[in-house]
Amino acid sequence: MDTTKSDPTPVHAGYIRRLWPADQSLFCDHLLRLDSESRHSRFGMAVSDEFLQNYAGHCFAHDSVIFGYFVDGLVRGAGELRPLFEAHDPTSDRVAEAAFSVEHAYRRRGVGTELLGRIIRTARNRQASELVMSCLASNRAMQTLARHYRADIRFEADQVTGKLIGRPPNAFTRAQEAFEDSASFATAFVDLQKRLFTSAVH
Ligand SMILES: CC(C)(COP(=O)(O)OP(=O)(O)OC[C@H]1O[C@@H](n2cnc3c(N)ncnc32)[C@H](O)[C@@H]1OP(=O)(O)O)[C@@H](O)C(=O)NCCC(=O)NCCS
Repeated sequence: MDTTKSDPTPVHAGYIRRLWPADQSLFCDHLLRLDSESRHSRFGMAVSDEFLQNYAGHCFAHDSVIFGYFVDGLVRGAGELRPLFEAHDPTSDRVAEAAFSVEHAYRRRGVGTELLGRIIRTARNRQASELVMSCLASNRAMQTLARHYRADIRFEADQVTGKLIGRPPNAFTRAQEAFEDSASFATAFVDLQKRLFTSAVH
């Protein structure tokens, strides 16, 4: 799997780009569309609409990075990375949490695989050494998906904790992320303008 493509990455009918605070309502709507089984797989427990609204309201804070899979202006899938360490503290364990969600109608098209590739590269650029996947040990889809990145992550016995393998970030991976961030920021701004215009004329 190539994790070095430019943004936005076309995935079948849609594309992937980083989400920004302006995309919060789109991200929230995506989470709200997840059925109860998907919510349980994603969060490891049953969660209500109120929980998801509250979650989406807070998840752009701190150093979190979220990628969204867009189809026709809606977020249909997301990959989230949350570093659980202070970037400038060399003594802290460099653990980051990752989570994924793809709506049913958009599954098994490689979206989850693409999102994981982005998350691994982002984690590497932040010099995380461990990726904790907040998913159940029985999650076959997640395990199958992660096998595409055997060269990058090795899973521990519990199947939910991935150790990032060796490869440190380099100038290219960092420059690529910076380039993609600025492109996706501009796209998010244009998308927001479109949504504001559409809601103004209706
Ligand atoms: C896990 C999830 C993100 C995968 O998304 P996706 O877009 O369907 O993933 P992909 O299309 O990239 O599939 C990756 C691999 O998993 C396989 N796969 C997908 N669903 C599967 C399932 N239910 N059982 C077994 N394998 C499955 C695919 O066939 C594919 O294998 P292949 O590349 O060898 O053909 C999605 O199923 C989902 O949102 N599940 C609910 C939330 C969740 O479990 N999140 C994980 C918490 S961290």
